Amino acid sequence: MSALSAPSTINANATAPFAMAPSTSKASIGSPEWAARIHSLAKERDAVILAHNYQLPVIQDVGHHVGDSLALSRIAATAAESTIIFCGVHFMAETAKILSPEKRVLIPDANAGCSLADSLTADQLRAWKAENPGAVVVSYVNTTAAVKAETDICCTSSNAVEVVASIPADTPVLFGPDQFLGAHVRRVLKRDNIKVWGGECHVHAGINGAQLSAQAAANPDADLYIHPECGCATSALYLATSGAVPADRIKILSTGEMVTAAAASKSRKVLVATEVGMIHQLKRAAPGIDFRAVNDRASCGYMKMITADKLMASLVELRDEVHVAPEIADRARGAVQRMIAIGSAGGGE
Ligand code: 13P
Ligand code: SF4
Repeated sequence: MSALSAPSTINANATAPFAMAPSTSKASIGSPEWAARIHSLAKERDAVILAHNYQLPVIQDVGHHVGDSLALSRIAATAAESTIIFCGVHFMAETAKILSPEKRVLIPDANAGCSLADSLTADQLRAWKAENPGAVVVSYVNTTAAVKAETDICCTSSNAVEVVASIPADTPVLFGPDQFLGAHVRRVLKRDNIKVWGGECHVHAGINGAQLSAQAAANPDADLYIHPECGCATSALYLATSGAVPADRIKILSTGEMVTAAAASKSRKVLVATEVGMIHQLKRAAPGIDFRAVNDRASCGYMKMITADKLMASLVELRDEVHVAPEIADRARGAVQRMIAIGSAGGGE
């Protein structure tokens, strides 16, 4: 889904600092005047603004494209603009830089990290590989560039199953770092030669089976949209097999797939198990559905570090620029390119 059309005018020479500092703008944040100022600066900078589905609503609304990790990676790889402003977390901006090393990639706050990406280091992955010679390494996109450089194929939540299915069935796989996504892949493919790293995202791990069961019991008419990083993904399948919730009401989906499913849904109520920023995009896609967060405190502090003021400052001052050492980027690029080649369109494309 494109929230807005990409800028059509390109001015590759517009790199000088702008006279107007963010604080001198009189437009209130989120107003049409503020959005027009952001888009005008983006046009002058020859920049495209990409926003992940977990961003603050004001950032989602002003992004040229809003989507999931796979969709935004694909857009970053093919964008006509010379600058990418990535409103997301650091590994996403790094992925864009790996795919488009000739472009300037900016993130409004370089401190926007990811607990899941922190749960597997390149040294740990090298040691794991040494213990498992011959295994193919599949890494979730929520990893550092150094981990991607040690990886055979990256994946996102929307194509993890297809990526692992592309590997011959008798070849062992090392899947990291997310234990819940890894368990989901093992379950769907019924494949037991997949070793899964024990990492997790603190936000998704905190959405647990007890919360899901209680919400499902209180809302028997609701569909359930569950992100595969969630601690409750296994409980969701238990709800289906025990008959507590009809199986066709339970959907394990990436954030982009949730938007696509909502737009096509005839349901009146949906329980959403993922980061709470998702609800904004779901309401835009299906205003008639009552969306409820399974855990309304599941907010990612890293994603919320990207504020409206920082986006404006990023455009004005061209910061924070993301760099990936060329030797790391060169080794990581094949794994990321294989990722964007596999799987159907992510939500946002
Ligand atoms: P997707 O947008 O690919 O579903 O990823 C979710 C996520 O946790 C990103 O950090
Ligand atoms: Fe990382 Fe979790 Fe935040 Fe996504 S929600 S960026 S996986 S910490």
